[in-house]
Amino acid sequence: MPLAHTVLTSLLCLFLMLPVMTDAEAAGDKGQNMGQVKPPLDKKLDKKTEERGRYLIKIAGCNDCHTTSYAEAAGKIPEQDWLKGDSIGWRGPWGTTYASNLRLYMQNLSEGQWIQVSRAVEFRPPMPWFVLREMTDEDLRAIYRFIRHLGPAGEPAPTYLPPDQEPPKPYILFPSSGEASK
Ligand code: HEC
Repeated sequence: MPLAHTVLTSLLCLFLMLPVMTDAEAAGDKGQNMGQVKPPLDKKLDKKTEERGRYLIKIAGCNDCHTTSYAEAAGKIPEQDWLKGDSIGWRGPWGTTYASNLRLYMQNLSEGQWIQVSRAVEFRPPMPWFVLREMTDEDLRAIYRFIRHLGPAGEPAPTYLPPDQEPPKPYILFPSSGEASK
């Protein structure tokens, strides 16, 4: 039965190919095509959105961690140097985390993906991911557009280290639950 065989083989091929295509599409959806295609901005930045984005980033404290020396300089860091990440480690029971370079991070996400990430992802401490969940879509969009408008800059922050690895100094040490004084 050569015909039946061919049909069967084609069907099997199709079936085998399907998951591959879906995976590739899914990867695209999650922005895992990093660095290849820059997702387009959904909308241009109007004055009102720009001001809202700047204001939210200032009052929500994003710069405190994601901008080097922002707190020490009492916020007097020029805007073009904002959110380029920091090499100070935050060490605790979760390991050592580093505030990411958001200027680079946002380049790989579309606005829709940013909203999804903000609603779904629990980042490690001390990143206040729960603050992102409290924001309206409009506020999240303003933050996204403002950071995209600042443009890509700086280097990626150091990568996360697991708890058993000693990070390079200086780092900020959080007491582990056992050591915390009452
Ligand atoms: C107290 C310090 C702190 C503050 C305040 C803070 N972050 Fe973070 N943020 C971090 C750290 C540390 C990480 C890395 C977390 C990890 O490795 O999981 C991070 C990670 C992130 C990530 C994930 C980036 C990636 O590479 O996956 C995003 C997005 C982000 N922060 C956005 C913001 C925004 C927007 C604000 C202001 C509303 C903010 N953060 C405020 C410390 C902070």
